[in-house]
Amino acid sequence: MMVLREQDVFRGPLVLVNREHPLRAFDSDLAMLPWGGGIRMERRAAALLAVCVRAVGGEQGIVPVSGWRSREEQAQIWNDSMGSHGEVFTRSYVAPPDCSEHQTGLAIDLAQAAEDIDFIRPDFPDSGVCGAFRRRAARCGFIERYREEKRPLTGIAAEPWHFRYVGAPHASLIEDNGLCLEEYAAFLRRGNQTCRLENGKEAFVRYVPCEGKKTEIPVPEGCWQLSGDNDGGFILTVWR
Ligand code: DAL
Ligand code: ZN
Repeated sequence: MMVLREQDVFRGPLVLVNREHPLRAFDSDLAMLPWGGGIRMERRAAALLAVCVRAVGGEQGIVPVSGWRSREEQAQIWNDSMGSHGEVFTRSYVAPPDCSEHQTGLAIDLAQAAEDIDFIRPDFPDSGVCGAFRRRAARCGFIERYREEKRPLTGIAAEPWHFRYVGAPHASLIEDNGLCLEEYAAFLRRGNQTCRLENGKEAFVRYVPCEGKKTEIPVPEGCWQLSGDNDGGFILTVWR
């Protein structure tokens, strides 16, 4: 048996972070992105982002703008935006401190290479290498996190430049089913999912509710991963 502790709900690549689900006790293992000058992300997300950018030949045409942010940086961005753009704009495009998934290191803002890049709303079009990246992102484990039609659920306006690492197969399950991350745990609670992978293997995804101080589950056979959802449960992925 494997024992999950209550606080494990707050950790892992599938944590939901928004105004209703602030970040709690999240440790990030950070690594520098191998291109673009000094931006850090969670180690696995950084590696897979680089794979995805390289696969579309985007090392020159795609610029990382903002990856991991400390709480202090997020507070500074929030305060600066409030001062220069006002409350309506800021609430649409900036998460309050502790409510930003940038603080996990799992989010990245990308821009099309240009002389002037807007830090809060970088241009990341659907054409060229940016479009090629967008179409490939889910295969590398990234979702386009903020879509206009999901605004009532995310509380954030469309951000076609902001990608969130959740890992494959979750990115494919989320995108193929037209979900946003706010809807994913409920989707899994309605039924376990199986996802056929490109390498011929399958991934099985199951929701495990947190049962209090200790949740016990049988150790799965094969390669597996457990992540908290920061919303009262865990998501178990098993590759076979
Ligand atoms: N721009 C997103 C919502 C953030 O500040 O985390
Ligand atoms: Zn962002």
